[in-house]
This record gives sequence, C-alpha cells and structure tokens, in this order.
Amino acid sequence: MCGIVGYVGARPALDVVVEGLARLEYRGYDSAGVAVLADGELATAKRAGKLVNLREALAEEPPPAGTLGMGHTRWATHGAPNDRNAHPHLDCSGRVAVIHNGIIENFAALRSELEEGGHKLNSDTDTEAVAHLLEDELKRGGDLAAAMRRVCGRLEGAFTLVAVHTGDPDLVVGARRNSPLVVGVGDGENFLASDVAAFIAHTRDAIELGQDQVVELRRDGVTVTDFDGRPAEVKEYHVDWDVSAAEKGGYDYFMLKEIAEQPRAVADTLLGRIGADGRLSLDEMRITDQELREVDKIIIVACGTSYHAGLIAKYAIEHWAGLPCEVELASEFRYRDPILSRSTLVIAISQSGETMDALMAVRHARQQHAKLLGICNVNGSTLPRECDGVLYTHAGPEIAVASTKAFLTQLVAVYLIALYIAQVRGTKWGDEVFAMIQLLERMPEKVDKVLETMEPVRELARSLANERSVLFLGRHVGFPVALEGALKLKELAYMHAEGFAAGELKHGPIALIEEGLPVIVVVPPRARDVLHDKIVSNIQEIRARGARTIVIAEEGDESVAPYADTLISVPAVPTLLQPLVTTVPLQVFACELATAKGHDVDQPRNLAKSVTVE
Ligand code: M6R
Repeated sequence: MCGIVGYVGARPALDVVVEGLARLEYRGYDSAGVAVLADGELATAKRAGKLVNLREALAEEPPPAGTLGMGHTRWATHGAPNDRNAHPHLDCSGRVAVIHNGIIENFAALRSELEEGGHKLNSDTDTEAVAHLLEDELKRGGDLAAAMRRVCGRLEGAFTLVAVHTGDPDLVVGARRNSPLVVGVGDGENFLASDVAAFIAHTRDAIELGQDQVVELRRDGVTVTDFDGRPAEVKEYHVDWDVSAAEKGGYDYFMLKEIAEQPRAVADTLLGRIGADGRLSLDEMRITDQELREVDKIIIVACGTSYHAGLIAKYAIEHWAGLPCEVELASEFRYRDPILSRSTLVIAISQSGETMDALMAVRHARQQHAKLLGICNVNGSTLPRECDGVLYTHAGPEIAVASTKAFLTQLVAVYLIALYIAQVRGTKWGDEVFAMIQLLERMPEKVDKVLETMEPVRELARSLANERSVLFLGRHVGFPVALEGALKLKELAYMHAEGFAAGELKHGPIALIEEGLPVIVVVPPRARDVLHDKIVSNIQEIRARGARTIVIAEEGDESVAPYADTLISVPAVPTLLQPLVTTVPLQVFACELATAKGHDVDQPRNLAKSVTVE
C-alpha cells in the first residue's frame, strides 16, 4: 500500500517521478505528492485524490526544475485522505522531506514527544513524526543517512521511508522494514521504488533490499547498510519483463489486458518445469526430495484471491499427494495456536510477495520450525526471501487491483507442487502424473477458448448492472471458484455478492433466495456423477424458489440446460483443473458489470494492490 519513487540523476526529476507514480498508482490512490530539490531548496506539491489532481496542480504551478526528487501515492491509514495528510511531509525548517509506506505503530508517543520538544506538526499522519525526528538527528551531527539509521532504531511497525535534505543535494536516502523497496541501477542515475514498474522504462537492473536496511542513493552509486551502519549484502537481479508489460497495450483497463493474457501466463508458468522424460523438475523450490518425503502435513496460508487458490490446492494436494492439507487465512493463522513441527510444510501464496498478513504468517511458521515454501509472482519481493524455497508464477506484472492472471498461475503452481510431491512420494504412478501434466499443458488453449466465447457473459453482466445482490454456488473445487467470483464482484462492482458451498444452501443461505435473484452456479464435470447430480438438484431447488439461474457447465452438459436461465459453457477438463476455465467467465462478468456501473475497474474504491499493513 502506498507507492514510493525516488530519483537522482541528470534528467528532470519531476518527469521521472510523476511517470513512476503513474505506474504505482495501483498501490493507493487517496492522494499523491512530489518533492523536488532545486537550487538548494525543496519544492513540494500534493493533492488529495488520484494522480490526475496532482498533475493538474503541477501544470498550473510547475515547481523549479531539479534532478533529484521523490513522489508518493497514498493509501490512507493515519489521517484522512486530504491535501494536508498527503505526502511528502516536512520538518519545521522545511529542509527535510519524507515519504512513507507502512504504519509506524509508536507514532502517538513520538508525536507527543516531538510536540513537547517544540516541534509543530501539520498533519494527522504517523509519517510526519519521522521528518521531525530526522530534523533533530541532523542537528546532532552526521548526514541524512546517519540520521535515518538512528531514527529507524526508534520506530516500531512497518515502514519504507524515503527522505531528502537540502543539506545534501545529491543524496536520496531510503530505509526499509517490512514494506517493499527496490533500487533501480542506471547509468549516471539511480532510482528507488516500491516496485520495479516505476523505473522499468529506464533500467531493468535492480537491487533487492533486505530487512532493516538503509540505502544511500547518489547519481554515481548506491550504498546499502544495516541500521547500525554496517555494510549490507544485497542481491542484484535483472528484471525479465520490459516496459510494454506494464502498459495497457491498447486495452481500456489493465484488468482487461490481464484477463486476456491468461493463456500466455498459464503457459509461461508451466515452461521449463516439465522434463523431456515427462517428469516434473522443480529444483528452484530449494526443498529436497528427501525433505518432501518427510513432510506429514501441509498448511497453506494466504489472503484474498490467493487464499482461494489455496483452497483449490487443498483438493489437489490431498488427492494427488495423499497428504493432509489445511488452508488458513494468513491474517488468522498467527493469532491462534497452529500445531506445526519440523515435518510440516507451510506454503504461503502471494502474488505480490509483500502482503503483511502473509509475511507475518510465514514468520510465525518459521518460529515453529516448519519448512516454508512460497508461491509468488514478484521477483525481488520479501516473501521468497523469507521462505526456504519458492516457486515463481510467471504471470508478468499484474497491475489491476483485482487479481486475475495471478490467480490462474497460482493454480498452475499448486498443481505442479501437488503433482511433484506425488511423483516424489510415489502416491501416484508415474504415468498418472505424466497424463495429468499433459492435460495441464493443454490448459492455455482451453483458457483461450473460454476467452473467445465471452460476449454473452458481457451481455449478461450489463443486464444485471442494477441488481443489488448476486449469489455464487459451487461444490468441491467449484466452491472456492464461487468465493472468487463473489470477491471479484464485491471489489469491482461494490455489490452484495456471496459464495456458498452448494451443499450448505439448505442450512441457511437458501432463505436469501427470492424472485429474480441472480445465482451463478459452477457445475462440476459430468464425470463426477455424484457431485454433478447433487448440484443439478441444488439448481432445481433454488429455481423452484424464484432464483434466476446462471449456470457454468462443461460443453455438452445437456442435463443442466432445462434448469438454467442462462447457460455458460466451458471446455471439458478434469475436475481438479476445472477452476482454470470456470473462473474466467466470473472475472469477465465482474469486470463488465463494474464497467457498466461506471466504475474504474483498475482502481476500485478503498482498495490497494498490495496490502502491506496488517
Ligand atoms: O499479493 P497477494 O496475493 O498476497 O494479495 C492478496 C490479496 O490482497 C489479493 O488477492 C486481493 O484479494 C485481490 N485484490 C483480489 O482480487
């Protein structure tokens, strides 16, 4: 949450920073602000609302040109989303400016101490305290980096901080604890950002910063230390996608582009993981086969859409790998007493690799000596570093707040892991694993086929734009798909939407059914006859009570047609792989319905892409 950009080099800093903010706006859009250092003076501009408001203010009153600057796009935590609370925040002298992502938990005590010491604070934020603490530390001696290290030692909570000071016009200082910050290494220029997308147009060479590190960014070099000033080890890497991946490419919304990219994303996530002999090879997981043989339980932790991928993983792991598997909301996991041991494998799923709840769950599991495996889409993010091993999804940058291609690639990753464990532990015959891999390899073409037939789904979505509520039903892996369909509709269309396990209907939710209520039902393949027949009965039960039934079923499934007011057909695939095809119509449905309501689907209200606070 919150996007941060810092720049020092030879170009006009304002242009670089504002362009970077545009690519980070998905992280928060409550306000935006910039600071530029020009002729020994700090010039700042900030506005509540989306970046467009700041751009207008800058066009009306351009700040003096400088080649060092920073910018911030905010997802508000402390203090209302207004101009006053927008970042950057200044110290009393106006010579230090600070931007921040995270929450400083001891801010109230720090603010009181500062006010008692004579500082005048002008906002309601936790961030502003840092500007004044830096002011005091600079008076005690040393440069901005030394002051930042001392201040960080006093802060509790999660923070990425970036600061500049008129006293050192070639220096941008960043600090990181629990919130993301990466360095972009250029030629005669360097960048700091919450995400490489901010500087990908200028450089693809990046440095991953670790926990509790301070970075000094100058035009001709980058120095990283820990909070005690000791040189820190850093990891350099090359970003394997370019600027075009972070642009809309002719689509009206990133979400539309990302939905369309799913066949490729699924194919890319399979790439290089299947040997010529048809056996899976997941060496990058960095967990040995022997260690996998010793695992006696798997716990999956994740949030939101990634949690839904985890729920589907449970079915695959238990079926193929024959291991007990629990799935837990990461935000709940560490506040109970989960029973873990050295033979427990904890799998954390996170697109961003920065979700605070997921990171905290991983740390909790680490303390209990569990083995840790991450499934992550963002190279250089925190989660992979904190796990023993990682399986990257290769979805490419996902910029729309609503997760789409990341979800499908997470499913591919969990299928690969489940099949790999089955291969290693011998719970499935080699030819059974091979047969399933071959089916997986055909999934990009199946997803493509779904995408080609979405016009009726879009029409349906537009016709339902004025409904107040939509329910989603599923059984087996169709249940998490129903949850995912409901989540997409809630976050994009701001409508009441709920997903239920169809078998639970009679235990309460059926009371919600009333004349004309749209209910979307995900039907399992006919091959799962018992499951299939039960859900057909559920459809009849709700239809008898007036529901408008929208049924997603495999092609050729005639048995559901008489009970479906609308029938959406998807390619026939095995049950466990079915979420790869049944989720896509639900994504398209939510996106189209929200667009029909006039919503910005890339930036839904109150949300941000990476939830880096608890
Ligand atoms: O980056 P993560 O996968 O850890 O994010 C988890 C959730 O915040 C995320 O999936 C969220 O639910 C999406 N906006 C849903 O579309």
